[in-house]
Amino acid sequence: MKNYQIATIPGDGIGKEVVPAALNVLHTIADVHGGLSFVSTEFPWSCDYYAEHGKMMPENGMETLQSFEAIFLGAIGNPSIVADHISLWDLLLKIRRSCEQSINIRPAKYFKGLRSPLTNPNDFDLIVVRENSEGEYSEIGGRIHKNENEMAIQNAVFTRRGCESAMRYAFNLAKKRNKYLTSATKSNGIFHTMPFWDSIFNDIKKDYPDIETESSHIDALSAFFVTQPEKFDVIVASNLFGDILTDIGGAVMGSIGIAPAANINLSGKYPSMFEPVHGSAPDIYGKGIANPIGQIWTAKMMLDHFNEEELGQKLLDIIEEVTADNIKTSDIGGNSTTLEVSNEICNRLKAL
Ligand code: NAI
Ligand code: MG
Repeated sequence: MKNYQIATIPGDGIGKEVVPAALNVLHTIADVHGGLSFVSTEFPWSCDYYAEHGKMMPENGMETLQSFEAIFLGAIGNPSIVADHISLWDLLLKIRRSCEQSINIRPAKYFKGLRSPLTNPNDFDLIVVRENSEGEYSEIGGRIHKNENEMAIQNAVFTRRGCESAMRYAFNLAKKRNKYLTSATKSNGIFHTMPFWDSIFNDIKKDYPDIETESSHIDALSAFFVTQPEKFDVIVASNLFGDILTDIGGAVMGSIGIAPAANINLSGKYPSMFEPVHGSAPDIYGKGIANPIGQIWTAKMMLDHFNEEELGQKLLDIIEEVTADNIKTSDIGGNSTTLEVSNEICNRLKAL
């Protein structure tokens, strides 16, 4: 019997609606499958917690999280109580950084029953591996002088270690998928870091002779995400390029309410964190109409992380069938509630 120990942080707004719905699905999977269980320990860390305690999480919060195998998070943010930069930095980013979650992965695919803004979505199914700890998002640089002499310098930081670990993760993922890896580059315009990125990519690919590779400049690559998304399998990108590509990926799928994400700790020393792309959606919170698919698909990514890929695939197939059968929330053109969608997914899992 495998017992997966999960730290659950529903957070704010619709996080408090979609996390219980997704946990219900996870527990149903465990019941149906047998041989595994999910032991979820819930932490109330959120903007409400801040209102009561003056901080987003207790002092020993990070230590507490470290004994878990994964963190399952809803969304953080309630600007009517706490400024967004505080809730973001003191909880979400604190966890990502302290737990050394150096890779962010986000899949995007043509989803049955969903209207993609693409006129011809062509069954695309891709996943972006984004370096999540360095690159263009560094604090190195500064500003000097005033008025017309004012200037700013922003340095990008690319370490061999950071690039290599993102790339190896992407190669290993491509091995399990369709064996095609695209590297996002811009070595024609960015003089130092991108040729460095390319040379590391070219070194590493020798270790993966069965993977077909391509390097594509980020401008053209962004356009291909819209015109030919079906040509991609796995894409590895620096922090900034990955940030942009994953937003395009989410957009061509058709709704922010379904997009999942994972922040991965590569060493296994700290837990990885699984959270949907969307935020706390205060505009619809409390109405019971939040789309639970982003959170449930995120649970599927957690299953993959636990090497329960077969179960994860079954779950994703069922989510798509339910959407295709028009049991869906209003953001994607249906009229079902959060619980009607998640209960239907549970019922179909039980009928397997
Ligand atoms: P948001 O993602 O919460 O909402 C944007 C729009 O999408 C809203 O109209 C919302 O109703 C809709 N939406 C989002 N998720 C949905 C779902 N599951 N089902 C149906 N509709 C959905 O982004 P927004 O409004 O910019 O931010 C609201 C709060 O969430 C802020 O405090 C922000 O800082 C926080 N936030 C937190 C994130 C996180 O925890 N990772 C990510 C993004 C925002
Ligand atoms: Mg972004």
